[in-house]
Amino acid sequence: MLQVKGLHKSYKVGKTTYEVLKGVDLTVAQGEFVAVMGPSGSGKTTLLNCISCYIPFDGGQITLGGQELKNLNENSLAKVRNQKLGFVFQDFMLLDGLSVLDNILLPRIIGGDTSKAMEQRGNELCEIFGISQMKNKYPAEISGGEKQRTAVARALMNEPLMILADEPTGNLDSKSSRAVISSFEDARNKLSATIFMVTHDSFSASFCDRVIMLKDGTVYRCLEKEKKERGAFQDELLEAIKEMSGDVA
Ligand SMILES: Nc1ncnc2c1ncn2[C@@H]1O[C@H](COP(=O)(O)OP(=O)(O)OP(=O)(O)O)[C@@H](O)[C@H]1O
Ligand SMILES: [Mg+2]
Repeated sequence: MLQVKGLHKSYKVGKTTYEVLKGVDLTVAQGEFVAVMGPSGSGKTTLLNCISCYIPFDGGQITLGGQELKNLNENSLAKVRNQKLGFVFQDFMLLDGLSVLDNILLPRIIGGDTSKAMEQRGNELCEIFGISQMKNKYPAEISGGEKQRTAVARALMNEPLMILADEPTGNLDSKSSRAVISSFEDARNKLSATIFMVTHDSFSASFCDRVIMLKDGTVYRCLEKEKKERGAFQDELLEAIKEMSGDVA
């Protein structure tokens, strides 16, 4: 599904070059729910932005669904963004002037598709994410958790290969965070969606199949949940985070 090999990315500020990603290697399989964790400034958002085709990278390879991203022109990159990827942002980015349903339909409307089939898919997604009763309401009239479920439904509208999410639970209390994670689990279980989520939060990450830890621009460790209880996996994550920040006695 997604392969990242030897990814390098640096930012130039004035005359100084800051190396942020120094050879990141990772793969994500179809239907996997993966989290990326790591200290602030370790390059998580940078990694996501490279995969999203929002920023160019310096070296290495990113392959998404068999397509290499390195040499695509602007037009093809826009196509990848609109047709192969779905995005969920920390602050939801719903349009206030559109109803819940129209927000969900937006990726297709942008693509010029106003068919009945499109509307049907929008309605199905509302069912799956439990927001059918409020699909004619506006974002200002629904709760934070409902907004986030709307955002997840919208990310799935174009049947993307993968959902990319940067701190999707960053602004939410634990109950709403749980609702966001549930909607990702539903997306994976009911729609075989693949999810790649950056998070600071070990609770959110403990629901994932796998957690990739970034440190100093490379993959520091990769932890698999396997058959572990969620709580046990979270303890393991917390232990690894401690070790990563050098707190272990
Ligand atoms: N556009 C930019 N120009 C210059 N430096 C940048 C730019 N964007 C990010 N950086 C730097 O690159 C490093 C990695 O940033 P990035 O946003 O990827 O970190 P992060 O792991 O997502 O951190 P956080 O957990 O705080 O969101 C930081 O030191 C940051 O200051
Ligand atoms: Mg970030």
